[in-house]
Amino acid sequence: MARKILVTSALPYANGSIHLGHLVEYIQTDIWVRFQKMQGHTVHYVCADDTHGTPIMLRAEKEGITPEALIANVHKEHSADFKEFLVEFDNYYSTNAPENKELSQTIYRKLKANGKIATKTIEQFYDPVKNMFLPDRFIKGECPKCHAKDQYGDNCEVCGATYNPTELINAYSAVSGAAPIRKETEHYFFKLSECEAFLKDWTRSGTLQGEAANKMGEWFENGLNDWDISRDAPYFGFEIPDAPGKYFYVWLDAPIGYMASFKKLCADKGLDFDEYWNKDSNTELYHFIGKDILYFHALFWPATLEFSGYRKPTQIFAHGFLTVNGEKMSKSRGTFITARSYLDHIKNPEYLRYYYAAKLNSTMEDIDLNLEDFVARVNSDLVGKYINIASRTAGFINKRFAGKLNPSADNSVIAELKGAAQTIADAYTARDYGRALREIMRLSDLANGFVAERAPWVMAKQEGQDASLQQVCSDALEMFRLLTLYLKPVLPKLAAEIEQFLNIEALNWASVNTSLSAEHAINEYTHLITRVDPKLIEAMTESNKENLKATAQVSAQAKTKAEPATTLPEAEYISIDDFTKVDLRIATIVNAEHVEGAEKLLKLTLDIGEDKPRQVFAGIKSAYDPATLVGRITVMVANLAPRKMKFGMSEGMVLAASDERGGPFILSPDSGAQPGMRVK
Ligand code: 2FM
Ligand code: ZN
Repeated sequence: MARKILVTSALPYANGSIHLGHLVEYIQTDIWVRFQKMQGHTVHYVCADDTHGTPIMLRAEKEGITPEALIANVHKEHSADFKEFLVEFDNYYSTNAPENKELSQTIYRKLKANGKIATKTIEQFYDPVKNMFLPDRFIKGECPKCHAKDQYGDNCEVCGATYNPTELINAYSAVSGAAPIRKETEHYFFKLSECEAFLKDWTRSGTLQGEAANKMGEWFENGLNDWDISRDAPYFGFEIPDAPGKYFYVWLDAPIGYMASFKKLCADKGLDFDEYWNKDSNTELYHFIGKDILYFHALFWPATLEFSGYRKPTQIFAHGFLTVNGEKMSKSRGTFITARSYLDHIKNPEYLRYYYAAKLNSTMEDIDLNLEDFVARVNSDLVGKYINIASRTAGFINKRFAGKLNPSADNSVIAELKGAAQTIADAYTARDYGRALREIMRLSDLANGFVAERAPWVMAKQEGQDASLQQVCSDALEMFRLLTLYLKPVLPKLAAEIEQFLNIEALNWASVNTSLSAEHAINEYTHLITRVDPKLIEAMTESNKENLKATAQVSAQAKTKAEPATTLPEAEYISIDDFTKVDLRIATIVNAEHVEGAEKLLKLTLDIGEDKPRQVFAGIKSAYDPATLVGRITVMVANLAPRKMKFGMSEGMVLAASDERGGPFILSPDSGAQPGMRVK
């Protein structure tokens, strides 16, 4: 039965560029939506820019433009990025829209009528120069635990402590630099504490992944606090009805933006809004989100909907974060890559779509974009396996048979490819795209095996083999058609080009039951995809390193999602845990010698108090005569994975300083330091 499905991705803040971290979610959702559409279901995919809040207001002020102008610019930029990454929204809107204002106010009024709104006077930090209340992220000061300077009001990025802004030492406003004062103000609260029974019930109804349901369990155990939904002027947002000078907190109207974007789509397309949002709706509603905003979507959002008389989400699909080369995206390493920078360098968005899909499953685990593996995977799977099937066979059909096909009546490989349709569909449905692609690549291997075994290029040179040649190539192209169908949710542009080449109607899932028939004529085969050049990756990361000095971008995964990530320049800190991962040890150099054939290296033997000394190759030959090193004490990284080098194993690393002013200079601890002592 055809289903009616409304799908959303989280709304990106309108104060920063779309980056590769964001794209995990949009690509994940887009693949799912395209797959469901191919199944013949009615699917609407909506999203919008998340435009309200203090950081957006302040950024506009800094740029000397109105917030409306800022969000209009960003809307253009985001829309273009999504379009080029083939993320096909049915509507991409803005939370600063009349539909959203009306819906937010209506929902608020209903919550109020249902007794779910309370007011409370609270004390907040206030900037006496700027005349505004300050969100926690805009108060900085000295960490009360480790005394690191310039820490944010909610947590210390040096020692990891979390605290209240009131505990900061010498607090100052990040907006004006003034010392904030404490000031009373009346705030509006949504009484989440009264929604526990409903939420417990809702959680049990299969709306969440296992890990997310567990997280909910923890939150219930800690008890639910009422939710502060108001902010004082000046604030860029919607005013609360009958509460002059009070505005809805950005997180109140953001998810309502899902409804507003759909409402606009309904007006444009003549759809029935109420059919999708009424309390007893038979339609389905899915929210794709990152795991960091689960609290908002699994607690506040369903409770808001329930107590204002709307339907609740059918399911919430949370995914993990993106790491690049195994680490958090980093501006200094050049791995904080914007969507635009990727497009400028790598050009083809489908490489990234494919790679992400290969890594994605239905859990909240983080996914890693390993740039070396990205090149290898795309080149081997897409070029080496998939496209290869057509590039080795289509030319014969074009040149020798005027494009005409003549498939065999019965081919066991084709039968196996067709038989896999349900398995692949199940994997897509479950958002286990990695599993779907593994199966599709297994089938590609079978198809390639078929071509290799029949070797059409040999047949082409032999007399009297024309019929077989035509049949083998026709069958291979039928296999290619089926693989294209299976890959279409991931590679929609390439699939459209192939539909054109094969001269067929747009493929949908039911097309698995059709076949390329005898006499069907294909179009001229032109080269469809090129290999990724690793040099492009290098150029991309290099250019992002340069950008670092010029632009201060938003933090990739801001620790607190309570407010939009701040636009203030942020230093790149590592956590204390990151630091303690490095096992630094005092080492005595017991031997040092030249290495034959090595230009820069010396071979050092280091005693760090273990049974066996360590062998380390160090690039310090230019600065040291080995004889002068023997007996010196220095510092080494003892837990670096051993590396096999041309001249032998290197079992650690010696620390040395260098830059254009000179070096390398190895480090020397004060006398008294003993081999094996930990450096911390
Ligand atoms: O975390 C974020 O980036 C938010 N802008 C997501 C909002 S999603 C929805 F609730 F609007
Ligand atoms: Zn600290």
